[in-house]
Amino acid sequence: MNILILGGGGREHALAWAVLQNPKCDRLVVAPGNAGIAEIADCANLNIENGADVVRFAEEEAIDFVIIGPEAPLAAGVADRLREASVLVFGPSQAAAALEASKAFTKSICDAVGAPTAIYAHFTDARAAKAYIREQGAPIVVKADGLAAGKGVIVAETVAQAEAAVDDMFGGAFGGAGAEVVIEEFMSGEEASFFILCDGIDLLPIGTAQDHKRVGEGDTGPNTGGMGAYSPAPVLDDAVAQRALDEIVRPTMEEMARRGTPYQGVLYAGLMIENGQPRLVEYNVRFGDPECQVLMMRLGGQALDLMHSAAEGRLGEAQVNWANDHAVTVVMAADGYPDAYDKGTVISGLERLDQDSRRKVFHAGTARRDGKFIATGGRVLNVTARSSSLADAAKAAYCMVEDIDWPGGFYRSDIGWRVLAQR
Ligand code: AMP
Ligand code: GLY
Repeated sequence: MNILILGGGGREHALAWAVLQNPKCDRLVVAPGNAGIAEIADCANLNIENGADVVRFAEEEAIDFVIIGPEAPLAAGVADRLREASVLVFGPSQAAAALEASKAFTKSICDAVGAPTAIYAHFTDARAAKAYIREQGAPIVVKADGLAAGKGVIVAETVAQAEAAVDDMFGGAFGGAGAEVVIEEFMSGEEASFFILCDGIDLLPIGTAQDHKRVGEGDTGPNTGGMGAYSPAPVLDDAVAQRALDEIVRPTMEEMARRGTPYQGVLYAGLMIENGQPRLVEYNVRFGDPECQVLMMRLGGQALDLMHSAAEGRLGEAQVNWANDHAVTVVMAADGYPDAYDKGTVISGLERLDQDSRRKVFHAGTARRDGKFIATGGRVLNVTARSSSLADAAKAAYCMVEDIDWPGGFYRSDIGWRVLAQR
């Protein structure tokens, strides 16, 4: 099979690494890729949000299967263009991608099927939004409706903070994404991510993970795209996972099919869990980043078979072969992230690391300049390890972190702390 992966972050490096372990992969191209991906696959310069360009490239390169990593090409309808051209693709249609692209759409689906989630209201003007906030009181959550790169959510501890967030959003702080605002009940509990493959009809859970969204140790400071993750997430045990499937995920997928927009791809359900009850925080229509890195580290080459089955509508006969293992990924980010950060700083020591099927540094934002790796993004490296226990996996990941010489970067030293502290 000739495979094309769209994207260029740590998630796509992990996808590429897993796909290459499967002998069914004859050739792998990643667009645009990054300096880490370039070491294992061909990278192509392609506007991945332009469906016509992606179709043309797939046809020219005799691509048999396209895996779409990020949400932007999905929301732009790239999967639809590929399907129209009879190119096999893993990823939902533009209509189904609304589960991530519009929080109001997801809320309306939850209402239709009675899926447990936060009580909410939807506003297009600031006055009404603020009146609702004063009526509800704090803590309360204010969200820009559209895609805002994970940054359009303010968990406000006071009414004044919530009102200020409303002003920011209607004032254009998140561009078009803030033209409509969703205001939600604050849910307490522990958050975890649940990943389910869907082929339009059948579902196959493929793993759980817990991200670390805050920039600082002990989950403090501003939200980021994710500073580290581990899998599995003990809070999402089999009983909770079954409830999430029965009460949230399956009804959603059935409703999508009923509306004529069946969902095919990976569904990422962000859940808030309290006393064994999962409630939906949000859906994403792609793998989480960095959650994908720990999932791929655990799934290895079978990930390709599973995604291929989903794309071909054969999930009913697919199954996951689980090892009883744990994986951890530690994100190394550029100083300043998630605010303005330094670019172009040199990273050394990567060549010397001992990497194998249990220890791997996935690149998120790197390039090569004069033979050296340089940082080009906010989140730059995902140092990932797998072992028979979470503690050993974390130890192995931090061992690698220490061997990486990058004065311009930082990381959280407590990834996995919730679970490790309990032990
Ligand atoms: P989202 O982009 O919807 O995932 O929101 C980003 C983060 O904000 C989530 O991962 C949660 O940590 C937090 N969050 C969002 N909605 C709520 C809510 N209703 N209650 C509590 N925390 C929330
Ligand atoms: N790690 C969170 C996300 O991918 O949205």
